Amino acid sequence: MDGDSRASNWKHRHLLGLESLSAEDIVAVLDQAAEFKRLAEQGERKLTALAGQTVANLFFEPSTRTRTSFSLAAKRLSADTIEFSASGSSLSKGETYLDTARTIEALGPSMVVVRHSSPGAPHMLSRQLDVGVLNAGDGTHEHPTQALLDLFTIREHRGDLAGKTVALVGDIRHSRVARSNIWGLRKLGARVIVCGPATLVPRNITEMGVEISYSLDRVLGEVDCVNLLRVQFERQRGAFFPSIAEYAHLFGMNGDRQRRMKDDALILAPGPINRGVELTPEVADGSKSVILDQVTNGLVIRMACLYLLDRAAANAEANA
Ligand code: CP
Repeated sequence: MDGDSRASNWKHRHLLGLESLSAEDIVAVLDQAAEFKRLAEQGERKLTALAGQTVANLFFEPSTRTRTSFSLAAKRLSADTIEFSASGSSLSKGETYLDTARTIEALGPSMVVVRHSSPGAPHMLSRQLDVGVLNAGDGTHEHPTQALLDLFTIREHRGDLAGKTVALVGDIRHSRVARSNIWGLRKLGARVIVCGPATLVPRNITEMGVEISYSLDRVLGEVDCVNLLRVQFERQRGAFFPSIAEYAHLFGMNGDRQRRMKDDALILAPGPINRGVELTPEVADGSKSVILDQVTNGLVIRMACLYLLDRAAANAEANA
């Protein structure tokens, strides 16, 4: 599909999660991102698609990768940006989440990017504001652009996702990245194994079409990719495993485990990584690691999302 057809077929004014996207929608984002990457490699880094517009980044939780890449993505498309962080804001004076969002909306952005600790917070804004809303991570629910950049990175290195086996390892229970990856990988035809301590893998996750393994060593030899999820200590209430050392011993990726994987297997991690917990430095910086490629690809994925949402809004206005 060419770029014009892709943009005219895209109907979503908001990007709230991969659950609500079709396989065709997901491929459209990946293809649009590939087009932006190709243009950048040819020297066309600055595009004019969002000239005269403003994108607001509303981060009610900390972020390095998502925030900086959404900001740069907007600038690469010639938009202005508003950068809001909870820390140092008037939230500390009692202003509510919704009043904060409406205050930012009054400055005239056409899209807002939202990260919040409460599942559903971006969905609420999509109903309350008149602008496009992109979910940059909502509690334990979804992190759609992270999953899209993960899919893009696997496709870039290993081709079509259909038929690939991907293991998501670690804190599945608290991971929005796991949930978005599962939706995306399954829709594109990949086999997904979730792997972690029994306390961190909800049993009903099989309803999403995944297999469960409680042994990383058992699945290592059959996977094409391993995505190492961070242990989300900040979202855990209670002790889910006896010690970090035991977690690393059973579920941490180390040099020995890496050598038992297929020669062309990939190691991904959404980051931030905890060296020595989910993976050792040897693995993080090793030949199978595509962790920094994921960060690089996050830029074009977020450019693609902003671009397609803007086109959907323009098409809806033209047809009104
Ligand atoms: N992967 C991810 O969302 O990283 P940040 O929290 O740094 O944005």
